[in-house]
Amino acid sequence: MPRKSASSAVSTVSPDIRVPPDFGARVVDWQRVHGRHDLPWQNTRDPYRIWLSEIMLQQTQVSAVIEYFQRFVAQLPTVAALAAAPADEVMALWAGLGYYSRARNLHRCAMQVMSEHGGQFPADPAVLATLPGIGRSTAAAVAAFSAGVRSPILDGNVKRVFARFFGIHGHPGERAIENRMWELAESALPVPGPRQAEDMVAYTQGLMDLGATVCSRGKPACLAYAGACPLSGDCVARRQGLTGVLPTPKPRAAIPERSTVMLLVRHGREILLQLRPDSGIWGGLWSLPEIPVETLPFDAELAEQAALDYARNFGDPARADMAGELTHVFTHFRLLIRAIRVDMGALQVRESNGGPPHRWLSLDDLDALGTPAPVRRLLDDQARGGLF
Ligand code: ADE
Repeated sequence: MPRKSASSAVSTVSPDIRVPPDFGARVVDWQRVHGRHDLPWQNTRDPYRIWLSEIMLQQTQVSAVIEYFQRFVAQLPTVAALAAAPADEVMALWAGLGYYSRARNLHRCAMQVMSEHGGQFPADPAVLATLPGIGRSTAAAVAAFSAGVRSPILDGNVKRVFARFFGIHGHPGERAIENRMWELAESALPVPGPRQAEDMVAYTQGLMDLGATVCSRGKPACLAYAGACPLSGDCVARRQGLTGVLPTPKPRAAIPERSTVMLLVRHGREILLQLRPDSGIWGGLWSLPEIPVETLPFDAELAEQAALDYARNFGDPARADMAGELTHVFTHFRLLIRAIRVDMGALQVRESNGGPPHRWLSLDDLDALGTPAPVRRLLDDQARGGLF
């Protein structure tokens, strides 16, 4: 049976996960005491300011957004003003925040609110989510903050809180995990009551604040004396010591493997080095000579013959043998290096005519030269094995 690779495996979330009935109330109570209350887009129900802040905060930290937000609303204080502004003015106000498609969608969204919604942001998150640049979570946040609508958010920070609290393994970007998290997010909302609108503001902000401050990526402050996490008592990750493991990181794509054959051409205490071209890996470094032989499949005998042929450019080689192999990992590929040792025999070696620059270097002088790390490892291994 073919094996499933890790990246194609589909995670499932246990259907048995239950949301404690007071989950929402705990977050609300915590937010009122320990959450953030003075951000420039808080303490208002103006959907324009709320929407603008949510778009700015989509990929950017609060500390970086504050100044941009204040400048933006000072110059374009209403959705009508934004819709009427020239694109250049909008882009200039955005310049520095990055992800410029957000600014273009922002402008388009403002025009659409004017032309299709009579200048009023819709309160229904499902309708908000049809506007440019507004996804499901942003729509819920705008509806909750501006109209107290009971609708769940699920941004990156909230996914982290949920993965830890419910003990969900598997990358939250995976469809099955994300769908299950949306269901849990729905069940976790504060119980409807007479103070639903205020509760929804505190709850939505509370989840964001928890994710950004207490339940942070690096070192969550589960049990900090002031403002301890209201969810820590029954948080699966805290109880099982898994806060360093959850949420599961995105699976890395398998990196491709390349292979090469390097030659350890030895003459007495000297080794033959070749200067690498300026461009490409190890550009401008002295490295071992490489020979172009078929490595898939690899035939050691053929490679040893090719090594002898190469070495004849420099003299009269006595023998060539496989010396070992090692793998070096670069960011974008893995390099399998097979090494062949060639003994040049006792006679004098000569300079090769043509080809890239070469030099013979005493093994005692290696430190003076910048050789690539795996090449150095190969040479050190050979020296340790008493082969030089
Ligand atoms: N990140 C996204 N929305 C936010 C908000 N309203 N306050 C703080 N951080 C946020």
